[in-house]
Amino acid sequence: MCGIVGILGKHEVSPLILDALQRLEYRGYDSAGIATLDEGQIDRRRALGKLINLSDLLVHEPLKGRAGIGHTRWATHGGPSVANAHPHHKGRVAVVHNGIIENFRALREELSADGSEFTSQTDTETIVHLASKFLDQGMSPDVAARETLKKLEGAFALAFLFEGEENLMIAARRGSPLVIGHGQGEMYVGSDAIALAPLTDLLTYLEEGDWAVITREGAEVHDASGNIVSRPMTRISQQNTRIDKSGHRHFMAKEMAEQPAILKAALGFYGVPNSGISGLPEGVDFAQADRVILVACGTAHYACHVAKYWFEQIAHVPVEIDIASEFRYRAPVLTAKTIAIFVSQSGETADTLAALRHVKGKIAQTIAVVNIPTSSIAREADLALPLHAGPEISVASTKTFTAQLLVLALLSLKAGVDRGRLDAKACDQHLEALQTVPGYVAQALDREDNYRSIAEILAKHDDVLFLGRGLMYPLSLEAALKFKEISYIHAEAYAAGELKHGPIALIDKNLPVVVMAPRDDLFGKTISNMQEVMARSGKIVLISDKAGLNATGGAEYTITLPAVPSFISPFVYSVPAQMLAYHTALARGTDVDQPRNLAKSVTVE
Ligand code: F6R
Repeated sequence: MCGIVGILGKHEVSPLILDALQRLEYRGYDSAGIATLDEGQIDRRRALGKLINLSDLLVHEPLKGRAGIGHTRWATHGGPSVANAHPHHKGRVAVVHNGIIENFRALREELSADGSEFTSQTDTETIVHLASKFLDQGMSPDVAARETLKKLEGAFALAFLFEGEENLMIAARRGSPLVIGHGQGEMYVGSDAIALAPLTDLLTYLEEGDWAVITREGAEVHDASGNIVSRPMTRISQQNTRIDKSGHRHFMAKEMAEQPAILKAALGFYGVPNSGISGLPEGVDFAQADRVILVACGTAHYACHVAKYWFEQIAHVPVEIDIASEFRYRAPVLTAKTIAIFVSQSGETADTLAALRHVKGKIAQTIAVVNIPTSSIAREADLALPLHAGPEISVASTKTFTAQLLVLALLSLKAGVDRGRLDAKACDQHLEALQTVPGYVAQALDREDNYRSIAEILAKHDDVLFLGRGLMYPLSLEAALKFKEISYIHAEAYAAGELKHGPIALIDKNLPVVVMAPRDDLFGKTISNMQEVMARSGKIVLISDKAGLNATGGAEYTITLPAVPSFISPFVYSVPAQMLAYHTALARGTDVDQPRNLAKSVTVE
């Protein structure tokens, strides 16, 4: 989603804001803009498209001033254009906004009837018109901001800048994340800690409904009821905010390559190398659970889909998985014995957060499996289990998918032990298998030439089909999602056995079909489905282990992966799911890290 930043600095702020925006660009790249106070007057520059365009504009038309706000946009209301780019400005106030003002139409009509003239199609512009109106009525900036906030419905994070107020910035958080940074005689606001990392490691996370009056001397935080409240300052580890490609061509390449190390570190964090049940997550007991509900979006949802198989097989507990945006609009059956797990890289995804809030207090326990431990989902769940994957900058998730799988695998083992379905010996065997995951993932990564040569063939097609059974079905779904996201090639995934119920009509010599088939219990059935495709001239890419490939002839293209126990196969098969998409995107020349129309951390519904 959009990224926002604000700085009350000691020196010129626009280069610092630009740098912070660069660190936030993963949140959206439809347009970018900065407003500063130059001798007390609001001045702004806005540019369409990626931040580089704003950066170029600033070379020719620099912005002066020691106070400023900036924005990188993922368009919601109003298409990408300079007019719709933030900061929005009216009279004596400028605003940057992340989120959606749900009542903006009503506000716009009201303001227009009062004579306001709008210059954009955005919901955000209503905010500056409201604040400006209140200022014109003689209110002070903080009162005008407070009154403006009272009028707004929806989810948002905001930063206000006021003409003539060189030592003032107002920040507000309702639904969308916002953090205040403390410097030496400087103060900052940002959508996340990563944005502010080069400036400070001392942060205050605003709580839901908070708004803050910020000067260079500090911040006065008000809660939703207007009371002045004290929010803790946290010192965050710079390790969690470092962002660089470490010599890789793309963040995605770096993040895929990091997987063995991250999985090893996460196993260490959860104490798995010690084996035995000491290596299982604490703070949850599945013994009495009548069901486990797993809720997430996108890639995280597919991690849940894999976990469904694990929980059912290992713990024999009923499992429901749901897409977060659907979950709370159904009538999910919740009981006092239900445990719900919310999986999210960012921990800020609006749909997942809303689903969590929907069940909280109505069930036995809510658990967050998140990468950002300070995120809303982590803070609002009863128990947060971090991924320890480090910042993921590429919009397409890779390393956090395998890290999510790891935490969910541990949870499913915990459920098995709690429910008496997994004895100590069997648990140890599973934990031992998990310890081999980093090594096998490293082996799977070490086949880049194979992935590249097949990707170059896939890149010439307009459609690709992925097939798999059992644990490989959600892996196929994830592979197809990665493919769509970054190569822009239409990709679908089916449970291999479902093909003959309709989609087989698509098969001809022009359709590549990628079959994920480790030599597990379902291997024979998957291969039969593959033969059905071959009998109709479909072009097969078979991904299996050596024994699997030896047992099947006729696949036009193959990828050989290490033979692993079925339990850990999703980790290993994640690699071709990611690598085929990556190399196809390279062959197509798309923007791998920032694919069109997308943004990481989707904080609107
Ligand atoms: C796909 C991808 C998205 C996210 C989804 C949920 O590569 O990254 O599908 O998985 O938007 O985001 P989080 O995990 O932050 O809740």
